[in-house]
Amino acid sequence: MTTPQLITRADELRLLRQQRDKAQKTLALVPTMGNLHAGHLSLVETAKTLADQVMVSIFVNPLQFGPNEDFDAYPRTLDADLARLAEVGCDLVFAPSASTLYPEGQNHQTRVLVPQVSEGLCGSKRPGHFEGVATVVSKLFNLTQPQVACFGEKDYQQLSVIRKLTQDLNFPIQIVGVPTCRDADGLALSSRNQYLSSKERSIAPGLFATLQQTAAALTTGNRQFHHLEEDARAHLAELGFAPDYYEIRALDLTAPKVDASAWVILAAAFLGKTRLIDNLEVRLCDSGRGGQDPSNPV
Ligand code: PAJ
Repeated sequence: MTTPQLITRADELRLLRQQRDKAQKTLALVPTMGNLHAGHLSLVETAKTLADQVMVSIFVNPLQFGPNEDFDAYPRTLDADLARLAEVGCDLVFAPSASTLYPEGQNHQTRVLVPQVSEGLCGSKRPGHFEGVATVVSKLFNLTQPQVACFGEKDYQQLSVIRKLTQDLNFPIQIVGVPTCRDADGLALSSRNQYLSSKERSIAPGLFATLQQTAAALTTGNRQFHHLEEDARAHLAELGFAPDYYEIRALDLTAPKVDASAWVILAAAFLGKTRLIDNLEVRLCDSGRGGQDPSNPV
């Protein structure tokens, strides 16, 4: 078990890049905001199968948090993260300061705006969020220059935004989506789960259970999308959630079609102050697999 090499500066990255090129080694990047859990580690495990070296970036990106969101409270646990990454055999950790990534301050930073897929869902509920994500991910891609980058399907819209920016900005990087890791009761792992009280934690699996109910209705032929969404929102409210959105979409996040054979159901809901998100793909011929189809990037 070796502790990963910790890098904090851009010039260190450049040197490593030169060494890697000389040795003809490939790099897979796993961008994170730290406070790592088994979901993040599954991305590292996938990344290890795709390149010679794996780098995890850890940066709580101020640009993607709204003014009333949890940027200050977001858990920062670098030592514990390094220990967990050592256990799974991660080679490199890039943990820059805000002044390394935004030397002239956030307000003077050039931004990356990804149209269409950034709109609606989390994009409307969290204005500026995807601009912040797209900007930091573009900077991380340029700084680290990986051949592959892994992202979780748990953040379905984020993955769609990243696939589009990679294509539109011509990054020579393969984007790989990794299925969502869940607790045994179905709750998707998230750094924000630790904000939940024990009562809220007992309610939380209801979000995934509701997605599964909607998926079952679609599978058995119900195409009343608006009714299904309304029923699900009402059910979530009965369970104790404050639903933020609950929508059935086509896999590319456009409006769902009745004659399609695949959809994605996307949900965000508050339990107290904690906002949970989750999604579930429904495929009529291939019901076993969840998540975005890498051969059909959105
Ligand atoms: P963060 O929330 O730390 O998540 C880092 C990566 O882990 C993302 O790709 C996310 O989709 C994935 N992930 C989170 N929970 C997961 C789970 N239960 N199963 C599988 N993968 C999971 O997402 C971000 O950070 C940031 O927006 C970032 C992309 C790093 C840009 O700042």
